[in-house]
Amino acid sequence: MHKITIAIDGFSSTGKSTIAKQLAAALGYIYVDTGAMYRAVTLYALHHGLISEDGFKASELCLKLKDIQLGFLPNEQTGRSDMLLNGKNVETEIRTMQVSRFVSQVATVKAVREKLVAIQQEMGKAKGIVMDGRDIGTVVFPHAELKLFMTASADARATRRYRELLERGDNITYGEVLENVQKRDYIDSNREESPLRRADDAILFDNSDMGLKEQFERIYNLAIRII
Ligand code: C5P
Repeated sequence: MHKITIAIDGFSSTGKSTIAKQLAAALGYIYVDTGAMYRAVTLYALHHGLISEDGFKASELCLKLKDIQLGFLPNEQTGRSDMLLNGKNVETEIRTMQVSRFVSQVATVKAVREKLVAIQQEMGKAKGIVMDGRDIGTVVFPHAELKLFMTASADARATRRYRELLERGDNITYGEVLENVQKRDYIDSNREESPLRRADDAILFDNSDMGLKEQFERIYNLAIRII
């Protein structure tokens, strides 16, 4: 079996990472959640007072980018990697609403994207990788052998995310989650740098009414046909 590159893009909370992780495990591939990388840079910006409700010091963040080291630590319990920011495990912190509120603003910055895309391309050099994000099929791996574009209704996505946050014990309302999901999608789709869009050769996958098992089987079969 030859190794391929699988790019999974789509709107927020479409369950991309759940499917990507399962697919990578079934194929014996590496799985990379690029959203976690943008979240880690956002956490750094929050910790250093570079972004808040009062504004975003984007050029200061650009100057600090050289001080940001990202890493991945395999976690046997979750079957995925935890995100490391300058050697510290920040996997839990990057999933909070606080980070979700600001991440799409940070992701508009060209220098941030260039840094992260370079790391992502390096990770995928040897193929055998499933990567999910917003620009994987369009910018990071435009020649990926399999590209998927995941979508679902805003309600289905917000419900999924709301349940996840509740399970983690976050104090949040459904309305706040829905608003965040819609706002991030708007910024992600309308930014100048690598906006979220479906690559011409990406397969559109609407999973509003599809269970995980069915999604996995369909996507696994698509991959196996190519491999
Ligand atoms: O995938 P996740 O929802 O965790 O991503 C968080 C945010 O990171 C997205 O809303 C988007 O603004 C940004 N992102 C991006 N490009 C990627 C992955 C994520 O701009 N490849």
